This record gives sequence, structure tokens and C-alpha cells, in this order.
Amino acid sequence: MSATEIDEAKLEAFMGQAVTDMGAVVSAPLMLIGEKLGLYKAMAGAGPLSSQEVAERSGAAERSVREWLANQAAGGYVSYDPETDRYTLPDEHALALADEESPFYILGAYELIASLFADEQQILEAFRSGEGMGWHEHDHRLFRGTERFFRPGYRGNLVPEWIPALEGVQEKLEAGAKVADVGCGHGASTIIMAEAFPNSEFFGFDYHQASIDRAREAAREARVEDRITFAVATAKDYPGTDYDLVCVFDCLHDMGDPVGASEHILSTLDADGTWMIVEPFANDRIEENLNPVGRVFYGASTVICTPASLDQEVGLALGAQAGEARLTDVLKQGGFTRVRRATETPFNLILEARP
Ligand SMILES: C[S@@+](CC[C@H](N)C(=O)[O-])C[C@H]1O[C@@H](n2cnc3c(N)ncnc32)[C@H](O)[C@@H]1O
Repeated sequence: MSATEIDEAKLEAFMGQAVTDMGAVVSAPLMLIGEKLGLYKAMAGAGPLSSQEVAERSGAAERSVREWLANQAAGGYVSYDPETDRYTLPDEHALALADEESPFYILGAYELIASLFADEQQILEAFRSGEGMGWHEHDHRLFRGTERFFRPGYRGNLVPEWIPALEGVQEKLEAGAKVADVGCGHGASTIIMAEAFPNSEFFGFDYHQASIDRAREAAREARVEDRITFAVATAKDYPGTDYDLVCVFDCLHDMGDPVGASEHILSTLDADGTWMIVEPFANDRIEENLNPVGRVFYGASTVICTPASLDQEVGLALGAQAGEARLTDVLKQGGFTRVRRATETPFNLILEARP
């Protein structure tokens, strides 16, 4: 291509976007450092602070903190007042950066992202071979990062919004129901439900032993181990029958054989039972997902979810942006007759499937 064919404005606009993105990527480890050293927490609700004050409050070295603050100010994560040489973490940003209990907390995602750099070579080889890469083969930060990335959304939505959106399920859970959380990972969703519905009995299943070990520990820490049983099992062979509610949180698309999983789930459900499918939010067409949320999910899907499915039997590889129509087709192939969108958030689609 000759120089005369280059649209200078287009090039400039693209380079502007690329440098913005580069700044975000370079800042990612700084965000993890900010979390681990308590820098965001030191600033939360404190108003304008000098670098010395942030350093004193967090116990970190001032010179490094000063450089970190300038990076955070350049990205708009904190504000800077040149008159006073002080930095402020706005209250709205503190919800996302300093409060793990807030539904807006985002720093878990950065632990997940960090794992991808460690796995790059193996992911690259999976691209070449087409053979995929199992969930269990990833750097351990993926497991904890996923738990910490998703838990705030589950805390904010699962009990107050998603369960009430299902037909007749809340009443059953309050009275005492039998629930399976399939592909439960570290059990964040299972524990949140067990805390809210003490009369119900919960079973968490995942094929990944290390995740089940961590889920058991988390249940003990939350003091709900009396009503949860965690066990290693796949979505196609987990034990038990007559479940009133089966849930899959952000994992149907990770499975190699989601149709086979649907068939097994149907066979374990009570005749009047409900299957709640929580998936990443997506529209049905690629062009409808080309937005910031879709960018994050297609990225994760490329390096985590699609290889995870390809690594298993069948290897259907739905991808994390399958969309309601494709998901409904899978559920119906598995034998479910009634499928509807129960509710949604900007990040999740919640489908209800009934026998
Ligand atoms: C993205 S993580 C979601 C974990 C958890 N549900 C959550 O929302 O935090 C996907 C999970 O699906 C599990 N998984 C993948 N394939 C599975 C299968 N065939 N049977 C059971 N679990 C599976 C993985 O081990 C992993 O824990």
C-alpha cells in the first residue's frame, strides 16, 4: 500500500485508541498492586491526599506510590489537583476499586487477566492444534480471579433479582428445596444461595478437584457447610435426582457437550423443577456484540472458554457470546420444552428452562 492511500485522520484515530488501550494494559499490574497494597482502600472516602499520605496510610514506599498515583491520574481513575499536589479517589470509583462487597468491584478481573499472560504459550499451541486447553490446565490465578470477578455480580443480583425472576422458585427455596449448582467453581454462587435460604439443601459440582477443595474451604469460612455438599463431578454424571432447582453459572458454554449436559440435568430434575442458566450477556448476532462488554467476553472466550470446550468430548465450542437463540436451541435439543429469558443485566443473560 503506498503512502498516498493512507487516510491520516483514520490512522491518527486508530493510534489514539491503541495508545489508550496500551495504557490500560500497562496499568493492569498496577491495579493488582494497588489492590494488594491497599492503595485504593487507603484513598477511599479520604478526600484529597498527598502521595506521602497515601504511602503512610498503606505502609508502602512514597516514591513508588507517587509514580503509581500519576499513572492512575493519567487514566482518570483518580483525580489530581496541581494546586495542592493532592490526589482523590472519587466515591464512585471507590465502589469499583476499594470495596470487595460492592456489586461494582472489578479487581478480581485483573487476577484473571494476569493468568492469561502465564498461559500464553499453551494457548498459542492450542490455536495451532485446534485441540483446546482444559479449564484445569490454566494458571491458578484464573480460578481465584474468576471467583472474585463474578462474586460481586452474584452478590448484587442472584438473590434479589434472578431467583425472584424464576417461576415459583423463591417460595420453594424458602420452604426447603434441593438445589444443584453445576460447574460451581469455587462455590461463590452456591454459598450466596445457602446463606439466603437456610432451609434448603445445596449440592455444588465441578469437574475440577482444586476448585472443589477451595469451595469446601469457603463454605466452612462462611459457616454454611451444614447445608452444602461439594463434590467432584461433571455436568453429565453428577449424582442425585428430584432437584427442585439446578443452576449453571457461566459454564454451560465452557462444556464440551452442553447438549449432553442438558439431557443429564433434565434427568436429575423434579418433574416441576427449574433449570436456571446464567450466561455472559450476548445478543444473537456478532455485529450486535461489537461493544466494550462483547470485547471483554470475546477475549475471554478466545483464550479460556472456547479452548475449554474444545478440550472436552464433542467440543461444541459455543463460545461465551452464543446468545439466547443458540442457547435455547441447545437446551431444547437436551429435551427441555419451555425456555424463556427470565431476566438480564449488562453482563449476564438469565434463562429459565423447564421440563
Ligand atoms: C467460568 S467458570 C465458572 C465457575 C462458577 N460457576 C462461577 O460462576 O464462579 C467455569 C467452570 O465450569 C467448570 N466446568 C467446565 N466444564 C465442566 C463440565 N463438563 N462439568 C462440570 N464442570 C465443568 C470449570 O471447572 C469451571 O469451574
